[in-house]
Amino acid sequence: AASVDELSAILKSMGLDTVPQQPNTYPALNPFDLFRSHITELLSKSSGIDAKIIYPTLAWTAKPENGDLQLAVPALRQKTKDMPGLAKQIAESFPESPLIKTPLTVNGTWIGFFFKPEPLIKLVIPTILKAGPSYGFNPSLGLRDPANPDSGRKKMLIDFSSPNIAKPFHAGHLRSTIIGGFLANLYSAAGWDVVRLNYLGDWGKQYGVLALGFDKFGSEEELLNNPVGHLYDVYVKISKTAAEEADIAKAKKQEIAALKETGEDTSSLEAEVKKIEEEGVDEQARKYFKRMVDGEPVALGIWKRFRELSIEKYKKTYARLNIEYDVYWGESQVKDESMEEAARIMQEKEVSEDSDGAVIVDLTKYSKKLGKAIVKKKDGTSLYLTRDIGGLFERYETYGFDKQIYVVASQQDLHFAQLFKIMEAIGRKDIAEKCQHINFGMVLGMSTRKGTAKFLDDILRDVGDKMHEVMKTNATKYEQVEDPEKTADTLGISAVMVQDMKGKRINNYHFDMDRMTSFEGDTGPYLQYAHARLCSINRKAAAVVSDIPSDLSTVDLSPLVEPHAIDLVRQLASWPDTFINTLKTQEPTTVLTYLFKMAHALSSSYDHLQVVGSERNVMLARLALYTAARQVLNNGMRLLGLSPVERM
Ligand code: ARG
Repeated sequence: AASVDELSAILKSMGLDTVPQQPNTYPALNPFDLFRSHITELLSKSSGIDAKIIYPTLAWTAKPENGDLQLAVPALRQKTKDMPGLAKQIAESFPESPLIKTPLTVNGTWIGFFFKPEPLIKLVIPTILKAGPSYGFNPSLGLRDPANPDSGRKKMLIDFSSPNIAKPFHAGHLRSTIIGGFLANLYSAAGWDVVRLNYLGDWGKQYGVLALGFDKFGSEEELLNNPVGHLYDVYVKISKTAAEEADIAKAKKQEIAALKETGEDTSSLEAEVKKIEEEGVDEQARKYFKRMVDGEPVALGIWKRFRELSIEKYKKTYARLNIEYDVYWGESQVKDESMEEAARIMQEKEVSEDSDGAVIVDLTKYSKKLGKAIVKKKDGTSLYLTRDIGGLFERYETYGFDKQIYVVASQQDLHFAQLFKIMEAIGRKDIAEKCQHINFGMVLGMSTRKGTAKFLDDILRDVGDKMHEVMKTNATKYEQVEDPEKTADTLGISAVMVQDMKGKRINNYHFDMDRMTSFEGDTGPYLQYAHARLCSINRKAAAVVSDIPSDLSTVDLSPLVEPHAIDLVRQLASWPDTFINTLKTQEPTTVLTYLFKMAHALSSSYDHLQVVGSERNVMLARLALYTAARQVLNNGMRLLGLSPVERM
């Protein structure tokens, strides 16, 4: 990263003796911090108003004609009957500055500040080129004390993706994976110590069903080949058998009832029903699961193998999305003791109560919407919620997190509201406050061309195939791509991810294969194209001119005078602020909206700012600008979890 020394040398050359720096700002990392601090210092001196009041009032503008930063004069909390007069006076007494033009009053009580283009460019481009892959990110934010590098990092536990073994990986899991991966990157880039946790649905009677099914329908070869898909197929088949048995039993029972009325003999029918009830899939599965619960090694061994093979396969799929977990946990891992302990506390604090043999928590006294939550069924079995309560205690004990995020579809809003409220009710508000449910809407019409999508791999393969077709429509370009299949795959993944992250999380969206794979409009392929084009500008320049310096951060930038260049640099300057903003919104769309806007500014600049064919000094300056733009695009794409391509 650009050091404060380098920055202060640049500023000296512009006539500034000290690096402007208000508390908790990072002028060497964030150009806007520098400009805000500078304006604050000058304003505080000229107006006598406390810098602490001025700094936070300097805000982004919606329209560039209002300035790069603007200040709402009433927010300065000065007593006056004449706000516009005060605004005028403050603007007029603002001194001459090497970085800022003469401020303007806008709409009476606003003051607009405009950055001088030349110092802006000379500060921003070297800052970007020196910081490289870390430009925009700020690892100090995750320190317990941001001013002290030895204070240790805050810890975040993030529970995301969390699919269920032998069940389809549905749209909810897809979104959780994409959004969770992004949030994990976001907090890492802010210097948090992030622990990625996958909480598998891997426990319950259905895993007894699965083991039985494998006995009947399983194939060892297919299990090794495609564990996730095969176990699902097995599960579907055995479930069908179980359903058929249940239907037969029901029909026979009706028959028995009818026969009884006429006084006929029903004993043979009753024997048949009994046989189903005692030997059928359902009962066998129950017994099998009981063996697992009792820790019987053979039963547990089979289940464990299914689990491990599935995890192995998941790992490969997640790697395609640049996701790696620190922990594969799961419902099976929650200890009985933690659930018992939680039950004991709930009872002791009179949070839970008996209801018809079951144990419930009546949350309606806090809010009607929270309803009554069952924490133990009549037969003594635990539920999804019970495991999350016990699990939360275990997670807190193991990781001692400062924050925990559960990335789960909004269908589970009630579940998490109940979980957090129960924690609070039993006196663990301290834990509840650290937890957050990050929710999201549904994906409508998610299907592959072969039918309704079941597994992540199928979706990604299908979109990759489609992308391959799209690429082939441009034969000349297609021939230049080294490994078109791999590129198509990467582009397909980008298409899916960008479509998912484009809107606000809570919104539903339509899974639209044609739209997401298009190079036009705000799509993944469009961003990838913008990135590849910037890479190609560099390649072409290198082919024409042999001695391009490898470090462009020191080239003369004064040829960059065109409005397109200035506008682009302004956008690049606001990337670190966008990052901070994203930490607040926790929305991937904050990043994407920025990247699309920047990419549009880029594409409209190409005609005005040609590299090859320009004079050497102009060429180098433009190359520095485009290299900086490529870096910002690359950083933003990686933050989202995309793999930027260099050619396509
Ligand atoms: N496996 C669950 C499902 O598919 C999601 C688990 C989310 N995490 C949690 N701690 N409840 O619905």
